This record gives sequence, C-alpha cells and structure tokens, in this order.
Amino acid sequence: MLYRFSSLALLALGVSALPNPQVEGPPANPHPPPSAPHPNIDAIKAVDPNSFPSYHTGNLSRDNVTSPTPEGPQKRWVCSQSPILTWGDNDNGGKGVTITNADNGGWRGFYIYHNSCDSVPWKYIWIDAGATQFVSLPDGFEGRIQRGVDSTMLSGSPQNLGTWFEISFDGAGVGWGDTSLIRGCDGAALLWSLDGSGAWKGFTQYVLEGAPNGAYDMKNNGQWVIKYTENGDGSVNTIPRDWLISQIGTDLAYVDDYHGNPVIASGNGRFGTYWPAGRP
Ligand SMILES: *[C@@H]1O[C@H](CO)[C@@H](O)[C@H](O)[C@H]1NC(C)=O
Ligand SMILES: *[C@@H]1O[C@H](CO)[C@@H](O)[C@H](O)[C@H]1NC(C)=O
Repeated sequence: MLYRFSSLALLALGVSALPNPQVEGPPANPHPPPSAPHPNIDAIKAVDPNSFPSYHTGNLSRDNVTSPTPEGPQKRWVCSQSPILTWGDNDNGGKGVTITNADNGGWRGFYIYHNSCDSVPWKYIWIDAGATQFVSLPDGFEGRIQRGVDSTMLSGSPQNLGTWFEISFDGAGVGWGDTSLIRGCDGAALLWSLDGSGAWKGFTQYVLEGAPNGAYDMKNNGQWVIKYTENGDGSVNTIPRDWLISQIGTDLAYVDDYHGNPVIASGNGRFGTYWPAGRP
C-alpha cells in the first residue's frame, strides 16, 4: 500500500522517476533445452522495408478492441483452464515462433494466449537472459504472446496491458504477424519472417521513459508502462498514441487500428521474435 502511495506521489514529480518493482523470477528447477542460435538483429533490420510486402491487416485474425472474436465459427478452441509450462519446444521445422530474451536482467516469462481467451494463457515459457527458445503453435492458431510474470499472468484474470506480438495462421497455412501497442506497451518487440523473405517489423528501442503525463498506466504487478491507445469503444487515447508515434512511427507496429501497415506474412508459418528489456 505504502509502495503504491509513493508511486502516485512521484507521478506528480515526473514520470521518469517512477519506481518499478523488481521482476519476479522463473519457476523452480529450470531445465531448458540448449538455446537456439542468437539472431543477428542488425542484419534483420538492414533489410529494406520496401523489398517485402506489408499489410494493414492481411489475413491476420485479430482480437481487436471493438469486436473481440465472436463465439461463432471463428472460435476453434475451448479456452484453457490450466496453462502449459514449456522451457522450449522441440523444433522439427513446423509452425511456431522463436523467442529471444534480450533483457540481460535475467530470466523472463512469455505468455501465449488464444484470441478471446484472456484469463488463462494457453502456454507459457521462461527463457534465460540471452537465450532463444522455440514455441510450437498448432495449425489455425490465432493469438498473441506477451511479457509477464506468473503471479499476475497465472492469476486467472485478464492482464491485457502491454505489448502484444500477434500471430495467426490462415487457411493456406501462411502465418501473419505484427507488434501491437493498442493494449499498451511494456517494452519493444521485433519480429521477422523465417521463410527467407526478409520481412520484419517491430522495434528494439526503449520507449518507456520520458513519455508525457497521461501516457502511463500501471500493470497489476505494479510496473508502469505505456497506456492502452484505444478504449473499449475504439476511441483513441491520443497522449500514449502520439508518444508511440513520435518514438516508432506508424508502420512498424500498430499504434492504433487506424494507421500504417505493420503486418507481415510468413509463408511457412514461422517467425522469429526478439524482446529487449521491458517492464514485465
Ligand atoms: C475488428 O474485428 C472485426 C471482426 O474481425 C472487423 O470486422 C473490424 O474491421 C475490426 N476493426 C478494426 C478497427 O480493425
Ligand atoms: C488470404 O487467404 C485467402 C484464402 O486462403 C487467399 O486467397 C488470399 O490470397 C490471402 N490474402 C493474402 C493477402 O495473402
């Protein structure tokens, strides 16, 4: 309580002074498989954005604020009751995502949700600092990956505030992906297609410091992050949205539903993702 009070008092003094709680560690007895090779981020970002197609939505199936996926034919699974912990799935070349924990602060947790199943993740993974692990995804998967910690993400209630790496597979097996900041931003996320096209989106810079008052919101574990840019009715919170545009532009991530072409495709349904230090 005291801690919360002092955070709010500091809000008046300047947002860059906001204290954030220490990040929780992984579950006991980590036993990850060997790390996959570290991606060459400079080489990925050196690919000319005009050399591959970018889409406003493409065939990405999204869980947007105005119309969450209905409980109709689009909903192809039952929401999980108990999430699956993985330390890294076997990569046999099938659909899925590599996740690089680029936060040298230590182990970090990543939580994978089906669209419209916000309360309980389908799967989650803890990855050591600097390591890269693969997470296998089933055909037809539609959902997202978020940073977090077990005490909130596994609490049984939605923890939507933060950066989303969105991914879905269309009927042809093509993967569609993007970084979305519509539900907030708790750090950078870079993504790239692993189909040889060179397509990439997202960003790696730290955008959590120096935003104006009104641009911040607090996660349920006390971390101060950039606020969601859209309200439940689709209206825009311009203070966080405009801060994000000033830092990232409109074409590398969804800053709202109304700008840019932040989506890329992967013909083999495989993406790499890279997660620098954030506020999980
Ligand atoms: C939200 O999702 C619905 C259903 O998929 C879609 O029709 C609508 O265009 C989406 N809205 C935005 C702003 O993307
Ligand atoms: C989306 O999927 C449909 C059906 O598989 C396909 O015909 C169409 O070309 C796809 N759109 C894009 C932009 O790839």
